[in-house]
Amino acid sequence: MRKQLLTAVLGFGLAVGWTTGTLAADASAGKTAYEKSCAGCHGADGKGNAAMAKVIGEKGLNIVGKETTQKSDEQLLKIIAEGAGKMPASKLSKDEQKQALGYARSLGK
Ligand code: HEC
Repeated sequence: MRKQLLTAVLGFGLAVGWTTGTLAADASAGKTAYEKSCAGCHGADGKGNAAMAKVIGEKGLNIVGKETTQKSDEQLLKIIAEGAGKMPASKLSKDEQKQALGYARSLGK
């Protein structure tokens, strides 16, 4: 009886640990992808890297403003995948592009 209870408690703990671990991994994968491939231009806070704006002469580097956040995921994922203006097409995998966009969206909240 005691052993069964212990197994149940352990099993539950493992299940919870596994689920939260997966979610956390997803969020941090987005952060890693964003910081690696996007922050250089869009800034760690999504408001745009001022030094990069000077170099490439772009004012459109803020991606946490209304102009961007009101666009759909489809629109923004297309820009990320194909590039736009001076933004190069992303070399990240499709999953990473989604995770990076999810992270970028979280910066604007
Ligand atoms: C070399 C600099 C550079 C890099 C790296 C870069 N971007 Fe951009 N990004 C830009 C520029 C410049 C624009 C504006 C493009 C235009 O002229 O419409 C832009 C536009 C965007 C937009 C659309 C904004 C809007 O309102 O239409 C999104 C979303 C975006 N970038 C996300 C990302 C993400 C996510 C990454 C990383 C995977 C990334 N960018 C990497 C320079 C960059």
